[in-house]
Amino acid sequence: MGKEHNTAGENSNLLKLPKPIVLVGLMGAGKSTVGRRLARDLGLDFRDSDNEIQEAAGCSISDIFEIHGEGIFRDLEKRVIKRLLEGSPLVIATGGGAFIQPHIREMISEFGISIWLRAELDVLVERVSRKNTRPLLEKGDKREILSDLMDKRYPVYEQADVIVNSDDGAHEKVVHDIIHALKQFLKTSKAS
Ligand code: S3P
Repeated sequence: MGKEHNTAGENSNLLKLPKPIVLVGLMGAGKSTVGRRLARDLGLDFRDSDNEIQEAAGCSISDIFEIHGEGIFRDLEKRVIKRLLEGSPLVIATGGGAFIQPHIREMISEFGISIWLRAELDVLVERVSRKNTRPLLEKGDKREILSDLMDKRYPVYEQADVIVNSDDGAHEKVVHDIIHALKQFLKTSKAS
């Protein structure tokens, strides 16, 4: 059995998180994969807001978009994230559009610590090409859509409390960088 690198002992035991950690960023940034590992290393629970929405609705994100429309999805997203933020500190991976909604962004700013996983276009395109479960990317050329979303959304993601690059192939490196950046953030912010 391969030995997995776990950053918990060396990195996370000093972290006393006052609020949930909320991962934001474009589709393909690695929010769910990195979030799950980050939660494991911090000894916290992990929730994926898209999964919670699917469970609540009893159908897939694609079906919600197709049958009920994006507006209903955004409404569900708001309710689910509000509920997750009310719980004890945990790691939450949000869908790419969540932080773009002003009301959700305000909730996250007040009740969570936001971390933007920033990635280059080539990396995002490569990662999203493995699935066809993202309705916004099924409307045309994935690269063009993502490039357009980068222009619109990156200035908003920039408002996150912490920014970490997620271009590197090794998710453990990203987790390590997040924990390092979080420590700096907690030292200098009133969140701690
Ligand atoms: C969306 C991103 C998706 C999902 C939905 C809409 C967006 O989540 O919430 O398809 O608006 O960027 P991921 O970022 O986890 O793919």
